[in-house]
Amino acid sequence: MQPEDVADLMAYLRGLRAVAGRVPPHELPVIFRIRRAIGFWKLLFLERSPIQQDPARDAVWNRGHYLVEAVGHCAECHSSRNLLGAIKPATRFAGGPDQEGTGFVPNITPTRLGSWTRADLVELLTTGWTPDRRKVASSMADVVINTAQLPASEREAIATYILSLPARPTPQPRRSQAPQVTGYRGRRRRPVLRLP
Ligand code: HEC
Repeated sequence: MQPEDVADLMAYLRGLRAVAGRVPPHELPVIFRIRRAIGFWKLLFLERSPIQQDPARDAVWNRGHYLVEAVGHCAECHSSRNLLGAIKPATRFAGGPDQEGTGFVPNITPTRLGSWTRADLVELLTTGWTPDRRKVASSMADVVINTAQLPASEREAIATYILSLPARPTPQPRRSQAPQVTGYRGRRRRPVLRLP
C-alpha cells in the first residue's frame, strides 16, 4: 500500500474508542503459532514488491489495480490455496473452497463474469445485486457493506480492473470429506458407509 494510505489507516484505528474485554486465544494449528514459521512462510510466498503503475493502461485501470491487489484483497477469497495456505497462482481470482468452511467462492475472471458489463459489477459492489437478480450473501455481503461506502469512482475503478483479468478455468475442489454410501446391507437395508 502507499505509505500515506497506511498512515491514514493508523490514524483511523487510533481514533477508535477503547472497548473493554479480552482478546480470545488463537485457534490456529500449531505450525501457524510458531512465529519463525510465519517468517519462513513470508519468505516463500509474500509478494513484497510495491504495485507498479502500468503506463500502457489508463488512470482508472491503475487505480483499480491498486484497490483490488493492495487494499481490497478480492483474491484472498476468490482463489484456491495450497497445503501451506498460500494462493495457487493459476487459480488467482478463479475461485476456490470457502476458507470459512462451507461452499465455494465463485470464479470472478471472464470465465464466469464474461457477459457482465462494468455497470453490472458496479451495481454488485453498490447494492449486492447480480445481473441475474441474485443478492450475494455470506462473506461477500460484508464486502459489499464496505464497497458501498466508497466513492462511485472507486467502484468503477475496481470493476474496470476485475473485468480486465485474464480468463482462468475454475479449479475443481478436492473430493468431499463426507462419508459415501457404497451399498446397502441386511433386511433393513442399512447403508454401508466408506470414509473418503
Ligand atoms: C471475504 C471473502 C471475499 C472477499 C474479500 C471478496 N469476495 Fe467476492 N464473493 C465472496 C463469496 C463467498 C461470494 C459468493 C456469494 C454468493 O453467491 O452469495 C462472492 C461473490 C462475488 C461475485 C459474484 C459472482 C457470481 O457470479 O455470482 C463477484 C462479482 C465478486 N464476489 C467480486 C468481488 C470483488 C470485486 C472483490 C474485491 C473488492 C471481492 N469479491 C472480495 C467472497 C469474497
